[in-house]
Amino acid sequence: MSSIKKFKVFRFDPEKDKSYHFAEYEVPVVAGMTVLDGLNYIQEKFDGNLAYRSSCREGVCGSCAMHINGKYRLACEVQLAELGGLVTIRPMAHLDIIKDLYVDMTPFWQKYKAVKPYLIPGDPDPQSGERIQTQDERKNLDKVVDCILCGLCYASCAVNGYDEKYLGPAALAKANRFFMDSRDKADEERLSLVAGEHGAMRCHTMFNCQEVCPKELDPTANIANLKRNLVASQMSVKFTKKGV
Ligand code: FES
Repeated sequence: MSSIKKFKVFRFDPEKDKSYHFAEYEVPVVAGMTVLDGLNYIQEKFDGNLAYRSSCREGVCGSCAMHINGKYRLACEVQLAELGGLVTIRPMAHLDIIKDLYVDMTPFWQKYKAVKPYLIPGDPDPQSGERIQTQDERKNLDKVVDCILCGLCYASCAVNGYDEKYLGPAALAKANRFFMDSRDKADEERLSLVAGEHGAMRCHTMFNCQEVCPKELDPTANIANLKRNLVASQMSVKFTKKGV
């Protein structure tokens, strides 16, 4: 049996519109339908011009990140049954709108690249082709490796709203992910990349990023670890490395 939910969807085409508006649609909902299914229905039945991103439909690719009834979430992970009768959808904040819910992720990726999100081992590849870690060393990364780069933490972070150069939670967490990796040997370089007024110390520890992460990672704790180590480096104290 289906019920009807009203969708209020942010619409804006910078090439045609002077300002945004919310368009309303009535969507028949059956058990198991997600917000993404609702958007697909709207696009198919009412307006093929509605723009948004999606791909995997199962919380893996991170492309369907948006603001749903007051929270930043993945549209494919939100069951319509858990929402009230009205579903209000906005695009992610702090990113320019290309069209409707489809935002320009360029600044997010630029900041991500800026922290060198790859292993810097400091020596040639071993002949075996493998860089060995112990189980404990790998376990130490459990809470930092599963980021799907959806950008929800970036959109939820108030600091990104007033400092457009701030690296943001995803890039900083990635910097810490490699800082904590036992195979990585670029401690000083990594800390220098996240130092400065737009780096880790800019974080105000608001925990928004922690709250919205769909993989239950903790960018705030990752940033705190960078902060601790930035202070240690200033005091010529040995790096702690661990801490998330
Ligand atoms: S469509 Fe891939 S995470 Fe939602």
